[in-house]
Amino acid sequence: MQKNEIKIGFVTVSDRASRGEYEDLGGPAMQDWIGKALKNEWTAVARVIADEQALIEQTLIEMADMEGCSLIVTTGGTGPAKRDVTPEATANVCDKILDGFAEQMRSVSLQYVPTAILSRQIAGTRGSSLIINLPGKPSAISECLEAVFPAVPYCIDLIEGAYLETNDAFITAFRPKHAIKKS
Ligand code: MTE
Repeated sequence: MQKNEIKIGFVTVSDRASRGEYEDLGGPAMQDWIGKALKNEWTAVARVIADEQALIEQTLIEMADMEGCSLIVTTGGTGPAKRDVTPEATANVCDKILDGFAEQMRSVSLQYVPTAILSRQIAGTRGSSLIINLPGKPSAISECLEAVFPAVPYCIDLIEGAYLETNDAFITAFRPKHAIKKS
C-alpha cells in the first residue's frame, strides 16, 4: 500500500554548518528545488549534522524507518576529503544501491565542472525510502536533481512509497503507462 502523507527528508552534512559557523545553504536549496518540482502537498524533515558516519547513518535510519520519508536527499560530504563519509554511511544503511543515479549525476555534472568526478555520491533504497546523495555546493544540488528526478517518482512507486506527482512546467517525471494513477 502506498502512503498518503508525503514526507521528504533533507540532510545537510557539514561540520561547519552543524556548529553554526556557516549558514546552511544546501538544506534550503534542496527544499526550494523539491517545492518547485512536486505538485503534491509534502512536509519536510530537515537536519543539519556533522560529518560523522555513525550520526549520518542514524539520521538516515530515523528518516526512513521512523519518519517514513519516501525520499531523502543529502547534501555534502561526498568528496575525497578525510572527513567526507556521506556515501559510506548511505551504503551502510541501504538495502539496494542504484548505480544509475550516480552515473547520471556525475555524467551531467561533468558538463558543468571537471571536478564533478571528485564526488563519490551514491543513491539507494532502504525499505520504502529512496536516498540520494548530492554534493555540497548549492548549484550542484539543482544540477544533480534535474539529472535524475524524472526517474524518482516511479522508483518510489516500485518500493511502495508515496505517489509523487511532478509539476510539469518545472520537471516531468516518466512513468510507464500502467503505473499512472488517474486523479
Ligand atoms: N557536481 C556539480 N553538479 N556541480 C559542482 O559544482 N562540485 C564538485 C563535485 N560535484 C560539483 C559537483 C566538487 S568540487 C567536489 S569536491 C565534489 O562534488 C564533492 O563535494 P562535497 O564534498 O561537497 O559533497
